[in-house]
Amino acid sequence: MLENFIRRVQQRESTIGIIGLGYVGLPLALKFCGAGFTVTGIDCNEQRIARINSGDPILSHLPPQALQHARASGRFHTTHRFDAVDQLDAIILCVPTPIGPHREVDMSAVQSAIRSILPHLRRGQLVSLESTVYPGATEEELATAIASRGLAVGRDVFGVFSPEREDPGNTHFHTGNIPKLVSGITPACRDAGVILYSSVVEKVVRVESLRVAEMAKMIENTFRFVNIGLVNELKMIADGMGIDIWEAIRAASTKPFGYMPFHPGPGLGGHCIPVDPFYLTWKAREHGMTTRFIELAGEINGGMPAWVVGKIGTALGDRDKLIHGARILLIGVAYKKNIEDTRESPALEIIQRLREAKAVVSYSDPYVPNLNVIRGGRIDMAALPLTPETVSAADCVVVVTDHDSIDYELIQRHASLIVDTRGRFFPGSPNVVGA
Ligand SMILES: NC(=O)c1ccc[n+]([C@@H]2O[C@H](COP(=O)([O-])OP(=O)(O)OC[C@H]3O[C@@H](n4cnc5c(N)ncnc54)[C@H](O)[C@@H]3O)[C@@H](O)[C@H]2O)c1
Repeated sequence: MLENFIRRVQQRESTIGIIGLGYVGLPLALKFCGAGFTVTGIDCNEQRIARINSGDPILSHLPPQALQHARASGRFHTTHRFDAVDQLDAIILCVPTPIGPHREVDMSAVQSAIRSILPHLRRGQLVSLESTVYPGATEEELATAIASRGLAVGRDVFGVFSPEREDPGNTHFHTGNIPKLVSGITPACRDAGVILYSSVVEKVVRVESLRVAEMAKMIENTFRFVNIGLVNELKMIADGMGIDIWEAIRAASTKPFGYMPFHPGPGLGGHCIPVDPFYLTWKAREHGMTTRFIELAGEINGGMPAWVVGKIGTALGDRDKLIHGARILLIGVAYKKNIEDTRESPALEIIQRLREAKAVVSYSDPYVPNLNVIRGGRIDMAALPLTPETVSAADCVVVVTDHDSIDYELIQRHASLIVDTRGRFFPGSPNVVGA
């Protein structure tokens, strides 16, 4: 069975299915297609399928030609129907793993995707979970499901966990050159996974057990989460002491060992960093343990939008203005620069808090023409163009997301007050306040 799977992969006879065509799944599907495989993308969101099929540039960091090439090859198909799984050799799950309102894990998309593929599973297939999960989840969810069909894991069907490390918008690292951890339910599962992923990524790292690979992903994202929390706390301390945190970080970064810079900001956003550590917290609780660093970093990072709004209020007050009725223009609402993703973006809480304080809020973001979300009430806004008029009409311009394409000189020239959460402006300028 394993030899046959390997032969089919090596001869590009395998058909690959990607379940969930989002930030992770779509680039991966195109990568497999580019490597010569026939790929079927399955997504339960029919609107998303329609947008992909119409050639809509749904991920701004993905070159439009990539999708065009895949479609022109005749080897990339999309559907919302799971009966396509019958024809697949490898099925890769890239569905979301969010947290609920009380920070409880929400595995419903993974469970639902597994339920949907299960009736179509047959001997000789491989199923790989790429979604971020807590240690033990692949065994609990995937291995159990495969066995429930009467299929022998590692002999009839290969079960793999290979955590996704995609960083949308990163110009140096992409699906192909980010080393890929691959673990399996059995050694044969891992071997099958290694062969599969070796055909599309430059470096595959064999990991001995599922739980080690799951924990590795938890470590990576918890490391970022905690260090961002630390630097955000240091920012507030530096601010209280009248020290420019950005200059201090630049100075510290000259140390060639034992230090790596993290940068403060208005809070954390996106589908991964603010979410994933709480998968570990949730599982640790089951073992009677607490994750104190994660809780503390969560508290500090979660408090950032309120701190920024406090700084806006103080900066306006210093200019004899009230936040009530002030016209405030946010620059950037995506959770990080150079992408359009607004999920969990701190900008949303900043908007909500400013509105509660009765400010008149607008925004400009070249990546987000419209903002339609529910966040403590509906936010329905359209982006303003960044012009001398829009900037000078604002009582305060707040840099929330520092997209590279923004004209910062224009802002510097025309803004009466800039509250800068990203260290883009020299804090010594009379119209700039760091936050
Ligand atoms: N976005 C990132 O940068 C990133 C990086 C590393 C890891 N991850 C992890 O990868 C996973 C996917 O994240 P994403 O950002 O690509 O999510 P996403 O929301 O961008 O995309 C997920 C897609 O899955 C589809 N989907 C949801 N449930 C489904 C189901 N039952 N059947 C079929 N399709 C379904 C959705 O319609 C959506 O199109 C998550 O576990 C995430 O933590 C994401």
